[in-house]
Amino acid sequence: MRPLQGCRGRGVVVGTVTLCLAAGWALQTPGGVSLVVPQPNINATVAQNILLSVEYSCRGIATIEWKHVSSWGTTSIVEWKIGNYVNISTVYKDRVTTFENGSIQLHNVGMRDAGYYFVTVTEEYGNNAYGTIIVNVYEIIYEDLHFVAVLFAFLAAVSAILICFMWLCNKSLHLFQKKTHKLTASTTEEIELETIEC
Ligand SMILES: *[C@@H]1O[C@H](CO)[C@@H](O)[C@H](O)[C@H]1NC(C)=O
Ligand SMILES: *[C@@H]1O[C@H](CO)[C@@H](O)[C@H](O)[C@H]1NC(C)=O
Ligand SMILES: *[C@@H]1O[C@H](CO)[C@@H](O)[C@H](O)[C@H]1NC(C)=O
Repeated sequence: MRPLQGCRGRGVVVGTVTLCLAAGWALQTPGGVSLVVPQPNINATVAQNILLSVEYSCRGIATIEWKHVSSWGTTSIVEWKIGNYVNISTVYKDRVTTFENGSIQLHNVGMRDAGYYFVTVTEEYGNNAYGTIIVNVYEIIYEDLHFVAVLFAFLAAVSAILICFMWLCNKSLHLFQKKTHKLTASTTEEIELETIEC
């Protein structure tokens, strides 16, 4: 009886090891869904169109879903199944274009479009692949302000030069006036003298 029990125990151990190995193998190759995100960080300015570019590969037909997560909450953008349906959420109607490789283009971005974009690719057999893209949106006003600052600095420099010039002019004018004053004074004296003689 004893050796039999030992055999059964070993059988259980071997079974568990095979199960674990199988599970590990399954985790390493998740049904063949893969997703590549070539640009996980995008800097955009207000009113720009941005391409959230990804490329997936899988067996069978995939369902692709994009979500936006920011401090204002999570919004579903679009969900589609190639050759089947495209479901764009009302908030993003007319603002989203979908591509066969799983990418989407977002038109006319605003400050509120900044944040995280999560994409999920689900294979027919239920396997998933995930990707994230971080989008920063900058206001154009920033560039305008920069331009205005440069303009102001330029104007300040020009007016400083003008003030210096005017100050110098004023000074030389004073000197000139003093000289002419003396001259006029002497001529009037002469004229007065002449009139007295007459
Ligand atoms: C976006 O801007 C940040 C700094 O604000 C910079 O570190 C990053 O490299 C930029 N990314 C791209 C794709 O230009
Ligand atoms: C996905 O397709 C779009 C449109 O054809 C293309 O612009 C983009 O580069 C593609 N993305 C990748 C990662 O290949
Ligand atoms: C599209 O999305 C809406 C809201 O998320 C949902 O109620 C509807 O069932 C979806 N339609 C399809 C075809 O998935």
